[in-house]
Amino acid sequence: MPPLRVLLASSEVAPFAKTGGLADVTAALTRYLHKAGHEPRIVLPLYKRVRTSGIPLEPVQGLQEIPMQCGDRRLTWSAWSSPLPKSEARAWFIRCPDLYEREGIYATDGDEHLRFAFLTRVALESCQYTRWAPDVVHVHDWHTALAPLYLRTVYGWDKLFAKTRTLLTLHNNAYQGNFPIHVLRELNLENERKLLWQEDVKNGMVSFLKSGITYATAISTVSRTYAKEIQGDELGMGLQGMLKDRDDHLFGILNGVDYDVWNPATDTRVPHRYTPDDLSGKARMKAALLKRMELPATERAPVLGIVSRLTAQKGFDLLHDSLAVFLQREDIRIVVQGSGEERYEKYFEWLANAFPTKVAYRKAYDEDLAHWIEAGSDMFLMPSRFEPCGLNQMYSLKYGTAPIVRRTGGLADTVSDWNPRTGEGTGFVFDAFDANALAKAIESALRTWRDPVQWRRLQQNGMATDYSWERQILKYVELYKKLPNL
Ligand code: ADP
Ligand code: GLC
Repeated sequence: MPPLRVLLASSEVAPFAKTGGLADVTAALTRYLHKAGHEPRIVLPLYKRVRTSGIPLEPVQGLQEIPMQCGDRRLTWSAWSSPLPKSEARAWFIRCPDLYEREGIYATDGDEHLRFAFLTRVALESCQYTRWAPDVVHVHDWHTALAPLYLRTVYGWDKLFAKTRTLLTLHNNAYQGNFPIHVLRELNLENERKLLWQEDVKNGMVSFLKSGITYATAISTVSRTYAKEIQGDELGMGLQGMLKDRDDHLFGILNGVDYDVWNPATDTRVPHRYTPDDLSGKARMKAALLKRMELPATERAPVLGIVSRLTAQKGFDLLHDSLAVFLQREDIRIVVQGSGEERYEKYFEWLANAFPTKVAYRKAYDEDLAHWIEAGSDMFLMPSRFEPCGLNQMYSLKYGTAPIVRRTGGLADTVSDWNPRTGEGTGFVFDAFDANALAKAIESALRTWRDPVQWRRLQQNGMATDYSWERQILKYVELYKKLPNL
């Protein structure tokens, strides 16, 4: 079978533009598809932060200063490319200062619909201008979810796409790209109202994500459990009906981990390295982390780490009722890095002020510190309300840092509850979304911690897990190959 040509389009690709796991996943997909001998082409905006980051950028020949009509607006784009780190693949950046020369990746200027529909159209037009026929157009979340609809409307005439199939990966259904219907004009979809979700049209709305779910050849989510959960009322977020209808085209493929980047034996972002057989480097990492966070040194007290976007999804509401009690009662340390919604930032600021010798909070986004926290903590807290996959718990396992997680989405699929009788299990898992259930899981972790033999076994179980991309990429390729028959 010849190599597959896969066009990927995403609002985030690591390390260039990242707010969360989406960026890690789109970068890894590209890197590992290329490694496996396929031909991926990944397209993202040339955000201001990318342009000014100092990465080498080369113009893509034949793709310079190309005009595109978007309703009444005439925009111009060019493609620039740069190597994807640790790969021979290159990423393509779309330059269009009118849309992308802003402070952040996402904006609140009232033209998000155009910023990402434009990216989607340019991705497809870049194929046309280079006469490059993709076997698969693989799009991610709402931002690029219009691609399947564009392929059957605006670009439906072009034989180049005759054999092209589409895959929409849902990383997070909480964000659906819902806009007032008048944006259709700028999207060049004004005449396609009949193809949209009619209930939305009646309400004067258009949803990018719903259009993707309707027209993609297949849909995937980033864990099997989340694929099931989103067909139910609790986590369907209004999409459950349409997802159930497409059940036979809905697949769950767990994200992988890039163990070139996240491996305690080789991690160059931290000062001390270690292996499952010799954890002395982890003890040194713990000391280094506490020092960096200006907390008193201790070997005896366990360190609980958190690295996260601070949004309601991540379940930190549960901490309000439980964490302060533990901090008063127990000798523990808590190290938190994250930013997001103000109420959670305020909560962690308050916690750090209330327990200055036990809690340190950094309202920052710092990749190095994320590695330090994974390596230097003993436990890692992810009490998520929902979690399509989650990457940090998989990193934690590899770093011998026991995850404390709620049984939801990818957390349920990757962490198994510690069983002291059999010595099986990799972390501490609780079910109900309530503070009591979380408190019990933390208690169970602290109890296990006090028994060094058990703790070591638990760590080794975790460090032996393998969620590598080498494995997961095969599942994507298998699905890509299936698309023509779906
Ligand atoms: P989500 O995509 O929902 O945010 P994931 O667990 O899939 O959750 O991925 C989060 C990714 O973002 C991880 O690579 C994590 O290390 C990183 N991350 C999140 N917040 C921060 C932060 N404040 N600083 C550094 N990295 C962060
Ligand atoms: C989303 C989800 C997270 C997942 C990531 C990458 O942001 O919240 O669970 O790991 O996408 O797929």
